[in-house]
Amino acid sequence: MAKVAILGFGTVGSGVYEVLNENAEGIEKRAGEPITVSHILDIRDFSNHPHSELFTKDFEDILADKEVTVIAEVIGGKTFAFDYTKKALMAGKNVVTSNKELVATHGAELLKLAQENGVKYLFEASVGGGIPIIHPMYTCLAANEISEIFGILNGTTNYILTQMIQNGQSFDVALKNAQELGYAEANPSADVDGIDACRKIAILADLAFGKQLSPDKIYTEGITNIDLSDVKYAEKLDSVIKLIGYCKKDEDEVFARVSPMLIPKGTALANTSDVFNAILVRGNAIGDVMFYGRGAGKLPTASAVVSDIIEIAVGNCAKIMWENCGDDFMKDISSETASFVVRADKSFTEDKAKEIFGNITVIDTDGEFVFATNSVKEALMAETAKNYPIKKYIRRF
Ligand code: HSE
Repeated sequence: MAKVAILGFGTVGSGVYEVLNENAEGIEKRAGEPITVSHILDIRDFSNHPHSELFTKDFEDILADKEVTVIAEVIGGKTFAFDYTKKALMAGKNVVTSNKELVATHGAELLKLAQENGVKYLFEASVGGGIPIIHPMYTCLAANEISEIFGILNGTTNYILTQMIQNGQSFDVALKNAQELGYAEANPSADVDGIDACRKIAILADLAFGKQLSPDKIYTEGITNIDLSDVKYAEKLDSVIKLIGYCKKDEDEVFARVSPMLIPKGTALANTSDVFNAILVRGNAIGDVMFYGRGAGKLPTASAVVSDIIEIAVGNCAKIMWENCGDDFMKDISSETASFVVRADKSFTEDKAKEIFGNITVIDTDGEFVFATNSVKEALMAETAKNYPIKKYIRRF
């Protein structure tokens, strides 16, 4: 019998408990042994829980129990989670997690620590919620050189943008609904400012390219600045706005970015709505492969956490590793090119826009001057926005 301890009994932790109990019979068949929860660590009071005897406030209880072989760290954050994960790995316990912040920041170190102690550190739930993406990256796609990965990596912002696009809902109302549905992080800034998507694209790039990217060095723009007028202008270009995480490898350099983008309607990304995520991976043998499913929520995320627990019980985990080697290989955004939709004050004339950007497409001249550029350098766009009355600009995919 495999004994599991769950660290944190919030949305994901209670989901892990539920899935392990509800699906116990099938899980036992697939794992080859029963998997039971022996401890749940949470600082809150759960004395009214039907299985209150499982709860502890002391991590040492779990460390000291030799029968606990797997710890599901679903606390989130970097403080306690980092400390407990290191202690667990050093004590020879496997750790599975949904904690993208910890994996994105300290993944290389924790994977090394796990290897040194002959245990596993698995994190399927850290990207794409319930979508199998991490495991396929290091197993099914292991034969490939990956050149690019992009997609919709945050369920909350995709839900909010879908409500804005399809129902004309305000940003604030849609965010509140997302929180009530359990999609949003406790601090919604992680979602709406693009930080969560940034951590996820960092993890995918780490896995694909073998080097740890610093999330704080990745250009990251969220959706707080997107309003219903942007949605309307996108519509005029037969597009929708999505928050896109993107990374690519160019010789020895890696480029990564998170930003809202206009996506042409009719494409798979444009059709990915609500809390769903869609991630495209481009490999030199497979070509393009796309992963799609529920990117957030209690049970989809728990499904991924429990799959890692089963993988450990079965005992056939493939090796996952990437290096921590500084940031010199990370390429700056300014040398990239893109086409932009620009919203400028009317004093910024069409002639001026053409003088700076060459050919443009005028989208709207009511109240403000809205146009689309052809493909231009990011540096030129940023510099122009600094020097002229430009309110905002959004990339086109
Ligand atoms: N808040 C995250 C999201 C949860 O909305 O995608 C899943 O990582």
